[in-house]
Amino acid sequence: MSEIKHPFIVEEQPGDKWWCACGKSEKQPYCDGAHERLKTGKSPIKVTLAQAKKVAWCGCKKSKNPPYCDGTHSKL
Ligand code: FES
Repeated sequence: MSEIKHPFIVEEQPGDKWWCACGKSEKQPYCDGAHERLKTGKSPIKVTLAQAKKVAWCGCKKSKNPPYCDGTHSKL
């Protein structure tokens, strides 16, 4: 899953979201616990949305503004 080179644009509903930071989750862009199973040494980032919102989640895991896409994927 670490070869993803695009963001995930999602119309999110309010609530807690856990963004996968390690790139190993099978449920991108969200954490599925893979970081613990595979001992990646990385932890997901939690985002709490107060209201529905469109989010551009980083898929490449190289963003300098995680968990959001900052365009870095276009230079990979
Ligand atoms: S997907 Fe755009 S910076 Fe990672």
